[in-house]
Amino acid sequence: MAQTWTPNSWRQKPIQQVPDYPDLAALETVEARLAKYPPLVFAGEARRLKSALANVAEGRGFLLQGGDCAESFAEHGADTIRDFFRAFLQMAVVLTFGAQQPVVKVGRIAGQFAKPRSSSVEKQGDVTLPSYRGDIINGIEFTEEARLPNPERQIMAYRQSAATLNLLRAFAMGGYANLENVHQWMLGFVKDSPQAERYRKLADRISETMDFMKAIGITSENHPSLRETDFFTSHEALLLGYEQALTRVDSTSGDWYATSGHMIWIGDRTRQPDHAHIEYCRGIKNPIGLKCGPSMTADGLLELIDILNPANEAGRLTLICRFGHDKVAEHLPRLIRAVEREGKKVVWSCDPMHGNTITLNNYKTRPFERILSEVESFFQIHRAEGTHPGGIHIEMTGNDVTECTGGARALSGDDLADRYHTHCDPRLNADQALELAFLLAERMKGGRDEKKMVVNG
Ligand code: PEP
Ligand code: CO
Repeated sequence: MAQTWTPNSWRQKPIQQVPDYPDLAALETVEARLAKYPPLVFAGEARRLKSALANVAEGRGFLLQGGDCAESFAEHGADTIRDFFRAFLQMAVVLTFGAQQPVVKVGRIAGQFAKPRSSSVEKQGDVTLPSYRGDIINGIEFTEEARLPNPERQIMAYRQSAATLNLLRAFAMGGYANLENVHQWMLGFVKDSPQAERYRKLADRISETMDFMKAIGITSENHPSLRETDFFTSHEALLLGYEQALTRVDSTSGDWYATSGHMIWIGDRTRQPDHAHIEYCRGIKNPIGLKCGPSMTADGLLELIDILNPANEAGRLTLICRFGHDKVAEHLPRLIRAVEREGKKVVWSCDPMHGNTITLNNYKTRPFERILSEVESFFQIHRAEGTHPGGIHIEMTGNDVTECTGGARALSGDDLADRYHTHCDPRLNADQALELAFLLAERMKGGRDEKKMVVNG
């Protein structure tokens, strides 16, 4: 294959999920403007993420990736970003303790605006309008005006991403992400949880470890790693005109990088090997995610791996598996075996959200127990295959929304109407997200104890 790649070679390929822009000249003008704007992230940062993910691929780390299904212009604000970051960091600390490994932190944030849709139109009563495709493309209101794709929205999404990233960088490096802070927030969560008894054991052990570190003189004053954190951004690279405009040559290596986010991924609907999205992604050097749903065949996966990661570089490719709690046992083992047989280096991550969506009282929702069940099966299958369950990919928010049912507060179908704010798929709220981390950490620890027993006979 190896035909010449350029940032616009995808334009020669068939493509799915393209918005119908009414004014192509206006679209071109916007893309030309964006092409002159500063990059949002730097090549060196993407390389640093890739090397952290290489450790995960080799079994020495865990990837936590999460955030909104779709970021929105309406929810943009400092509090939303802060609350997400707080919940996310708490999850990371709990998972670090559970895995006893570094957790690589990647948000679905600062660029996660474009959405693939199962139908290009939405019908309400007698009215049919173009589907909502994310705030970077059109508006969610069910009016003809809002649903018309508007290229100016790309500029707004770029600016929102820049502002979001700016705050996240300040939080990550300016002391807010201090381990002691995160520890205190986590204790607050445990105290207020209806499952406090269950989570306290693990929380107490984290507290003891912190006290021990303090006692021997390891503090955030003398250890920057305790007051700073590496946090990366990611989104689905769906709107390729936008991605192309932000694709830049790295002056130190001469390589092309997507500078719209550190990591980008390819959705389950746009991964045809000869189509535009794969063409775009193969030429940039960032870490890439590939969504794998039930229709992914073993041969299809190997073909995509060869296109996207011909040098078999660890950290380049993360397979984000999203089968559904009742399908993971059928599909995951065959993909793992094919990848192992061919010696391909990948990070295996579990997206327990997109295969577990149901409709209840006219709301799209996801039962917490199915989400947990898919991740548990993912861990068990990897243990049985002797491979590394490298991470999770979740849709979550730091806000107290009512979008997924279940969890310690047992949200029911009747609660969904209370605070259902998502612009696309239902997200775990902050409590549910942290609970998931606690339940997984318990199991990770259980898995390690089991391994030790086997080793010790
Ligand atoms: C998503 O991650 O929001 C998404 C649309 O996922 P998938 O491509 O796996 O359906
Ligand atoms: Co989604």
